[in-house]
Amino acid sequence: MTDKATLGYDRETYEMPIVEGSYGERAVDIRSLRKDTGLITLDSGFMNTGATKSAITYINGEEGILLYRGYPIEQLAEASTFVETSYLLIYGELPTPAQIKEFSTLLTYHSMLHEDMRHFFDGFPSSAHPMAVLSSMVSALAAYYPDSIEPDTHNEHHIARVLSKVRTVAAFSFQKRQGRPVAYPRNELKYCANFLHMMFSHPAEPTYNPDPELVKALNVLLILHADHEQNCSTSTVRLVGSSRANLYAAISAGISALWGPLHGGANQAVIDMLQEIRDEGGDPKAFMEQVKNRERRLMGFGHRVYKNFDPRATILKKYADHLLQYLHIEDELFDIARELEQVALSDDYFIERKLYPNVDFYSGVLYRAMGIPTDMFTVLFTLGRIPGWIAHWKEMMEAPDLKIGRPRQIYEGPTSRDYVPIDQR
Ligand code: CMC
Repeated sequence: MTDKATLGYDRETYEMPIVEGSYGERAVDIRSLRKDTGLITLDSGFMNTGATKSAITYINGEEGILLYRGYPIEQLAEASTFVETSYLLIYGELPTPAQIKEFSTLLTYHSMLHEDMRHFFDGFPSSAHPMAVLSSMVSALAAYYPDSIEPDTHNEHHIARVLSKVRTVAAFSFQKRQGRPVAYPRNELKYCANFLHMMFSHPAEPTYNPDPELVKALNVLLILHADHEQNCSTSTVRLVGSSRANLYAAISAGISALWGPLHGGANQAVIDMLQEIRDEGGDPKAFMEQVKNRERRLMGFGHRVYKNFDPRATILKKYADHLLQYLHIEDELFDIARELEQVALSDDYFIERKLYPNVDFYSGVLYRAMGIPTDMFTVLFTLGRIPGWIAHWKEMMEAPDLKIGRPRQIYEGPTSRDYVPIDQR
């Protein structure tokens, strides 16, 4: 195959190199395009634009493949833990026993919040969306750790602090909203068990110990969300980080990007949608007709990259089945979800557009079974995505060709106007 692309423009011919990835995926390297031709490219939604080279995550959307650092998501979900997968994403290799011990110790060491920050929660109205609280609190962390304002990708404390404290902030915001005192982290508990303890411990039940099945389910959920290459929020983290803003600022911006219903907010939107279908009489077929008439959108379906199936959704569907059985829960929303999927998989509208369930379609069913309220779902997605954001920030900051992210545009506004003073308008 040729290793150059040729562009003919204005009676000239320009050659641009082809860049090839580990799995043979190919890109035209246009880095000298504007210098050579005066042209820029226009690609709204970045449908065809590779923003970077990356060695973190590989997705083959046609075949439904997702690899973290070369390891299949199915194997990691089955056998790894969220902390081990985080280490893999951030540092590039699976940890040795000594490395995981040291990493876990750092996470434990950084799990507390500065006591003054605990009072911040009192300032938010009890109706505040937990994503608003989370992004504000993460941004505020920079005020307490001024040493991390200058980005230092080799400082393991900075990395562990973000990973550990976001979990504490998430759980504290939930407890405060419930009108309960916060539950401080417990050093003897591992990452996911500690999160469940901070979420659900109650002064009336001080000996609460998370069910190992729930701990396993949470590990699986967080692993499945841990990275997804250049999605909207990760690109946001990279863009903000490229200005050398501190890690908390970059992650806080990522949280805001993730919140939208077309991205991480879809998990909450799916449950809202399933509830609406139930309340309207529970007829998925009638709902699907409205989707096809573009009156409604089937949340949790479709993906920019996956055009066959989302391997995360496949794992989650199986897991939802298992957990509901284990907890003896019959969830009519899960039944409606399964029925919607069946209708979609045999309907030309969805087949032609290659629309399949994505990670958000079944994750909400699992969160519900775990007792997590709907508006906390995107917070859970955030917890999972933190190691991916850190890994991308680290990779970008350490890249020899780091440049501030700064797209161009084609200006379409008015031209050559003269200013008219206000008394003459
Ligand atoms: N329901 C109905 N029609 C859809 C849907 C959907 N969920 N998704 C895409 N389509 C249609 C869309 O109307 C368009 O049809 P047409 O060509 O006739 O105009 C066609 O499929 C292509 O869709 P698109 O909007 O151009 O695709 P995109 O790549 O720009 O958008 C998406 C991807 C995920 C934003 C979109 O599929 C969507 O809005 N899905 C629902 C929200 C959702 O579940 N988001 C979570 C994504 S996975 C987790 C994450 O990464 O955050």
